[in-house]
Amino acid sequence: MDRKIRIGALISGGGTNLQSIIDACESGKISGKMVFVGTDNSSAKGLKRAEKHSIPSFVVDYSKIIKIIAAGSQKAEIPEDFDLDDIFLKQTIFPDKADYEKVKRFLITRAVAEAALLEKMNIFEFDLLVLAGFMRNLTPYFIDRVNIDPNHPKIMNIHPALLPSFPGVDGYGDTFRYGCKVGGCTVHFIDYGEDSGPIIGQKTFAIKPDDTIDSIKEKGLKKEWELYTDCIHLFADNRLKMEKISLTMGNGKKVQRTIVKIL
Ligand code: GAR
Repeated sequence: MDRKIRIGALISGGGTNLQSIIDACESGKISGKMVFVGTDNSSAKGLKRAEKHSIPSFVVDYSKIIKIIAAGSQKAEIPEDFDLDDIFLKQTIFPDKADYEKVKRFLITRAVAEAALLEKMNIFEFDLLVLAGFMRNLTPYFIDRVNIDPNHPKIMNIHPALLPSFPGVDGYGDTFRYGCKVGGCTVHFIDYGEDSGPIIGQKTFAIKPDDTIDSIKEKGLKKEWELYTDCIHLFADNRLKMEKISLTMGNGKKVQRTIVKIL
């Protein structure tokens, strides 16, 4: 691709991955430009990194939105184009047997927050949205409004574990507590589940007997910075292709998966 891709980022915390992506754009490793940084957390340290590089930023305060809705005034705020039944059926964050009211509350609060995110993001044109330590699950309401073409997904996430093991909020902690001898990180496209989308790349590191959660996080983050910028580089060069494959499982059941081919 000749022109630079426009990258938006969502963060919740320190933003070391954000920094490595900004640096890779500035050094030319990625043919790209960071065009906005959004967060759900007004005290995210990563906001300072954006400011330092003159990148526009915004905050959507999820906690406040969730509290306001819990206080009973949600009706006025639900986006007009929110279709609860459609989103409920598509999402795979919660299992089928999950409590309906709980899932409904989750989807409504998130749609309100996600509509606010979309409104702020849509001021900018972007080719790729990177989740760089964004600690909120995105629902199909948001995903479908960003991924207009299902063959060209444009939301990437980095996860601190070797998926499909240890999805969720504490990948390195879960890896350590399980007693794994190898840890790792994964970059994947987002789908309707939690950390379940098609994998783009993974990196591993050895876990030694004297490692601690902190030393594992430190090793892992270093791998993340390399991996995320490698994967974004591939995206910018148009080298990621989605491919639908049919598989027959051991029990004879046929399943379809979408995988990422690197060209
Ligand atoms: C990273 O370890 C990233 O993999 C993880 O949060 C950290 C953010 O660090 N993301 C998740 O757990 C997403 N579920 P950073 O703010 O320094 O980039």
